[in-house]
Amino acid sequence: MRIIAVMNQKGGVGKTTTTLNLSHALAMSGKKVTVIDMDPQGQLTMSFNIDQTSNPGIAGAMLSDVPINDVMVQVEEGLNIVPAGLRLGEMENLTKGGGTRGWMLDKVVKQITDQDVLLIDCPPSAGMLGMNSLFACNEVLIPVSSDYLGLHGVSRLFAILKHIEKALGTNKKKWLLVTRYNQRRKLTKDVVNKLEEYFSDQMLNTRIRENVSLAESPSFGKSIFDYNKRRHGAEDYQALEFEFLEGYAKTYDS
Ligand SMILES: Nc1ncnc2c1ncn2[C@@H]1O[C@H](COP(=O)(O)OP(=O)(O)O)[C@@H](O)[C@H]1O
Ligand SMILES: [Mg+2]
Repeated sequence: MRIIAVMNQKGGVGKTTTTLNLSHALAMSGKKVTVIDMDPQGQLTMSFNIDQTSNPGIAGAMLSDVPINDVMVQVEEGLNIVPAGLRLGEMENLTKGGGTRGWMLDKVVKQITDQDVLLIDCPPSAGMLGMNSLFACNEVLIPVSSDYLGLHGVSRLFAILKHIEKALGTNKKKWLLVTRYNQRRKLTKDVVNKLEEYFSDQMLNTRIRENVSLAESPSFGKSIFDYNKRRHGAEDYQALEFEFLEGYAKTYDS
């Protein structure tokens, strides 16, 4: 089972958009996929049209040992979501539990055995919940928005990951995904050039273009494929799914 944490301590870079649409693309190609909403803001949960007032979510599974099957909701054939749960916010400040508190998600995730891919939508912080996501995953997908020259933030994230992984004794595969790509914008070109200069080994070829349908679809409770599958957004997330699963990479003219 591939367990992929969609992670970046910066907000607004496309973590939730990527988790939502990549999960649908994977399910469409016949994979069994489960997404976990690890952001207390619950935006992923909302884009799946789930009311979490009656579902303890991943917070319940981590804090009160609620079995994962009791909180998992099937959205369609092959696609499940574990909602955030209202208590997830409390956990960011949790200090009890000593050395085990980073492993709570890992313990829960070990109950899931029959899926092909698990996607974890992380909060925009490197705190407790991000740590749990990192410990539980075996790959890290880092969306980077090309409408902002945030190289410093990406370098910092890599430094944090390296530091923690050294302590864990792991070396998880890391992928960088360029989002909000706009070929005509100079800033986009600068961001992509810099990323290629420093992180060429981690860069995915697929780029997610700036596309208004991607921003609109979650408020209708839909993925890009149900909302408007003829738009760039659908094409790009399909391409991401191909690259991820089949190693097939799209090429771009620069
Ligand atoms: N490729 C894109 N084109 C246009 N808007 C996008 C794109 N990706 C994300 N957005 C929008 O940008 C905002 C932040 O994206 P989101 O996925 O919520 O980021 P994060 O989860 O990293 O905070 C949202 O309003 C989202 O709809
Ligand atoms: Mg988000």
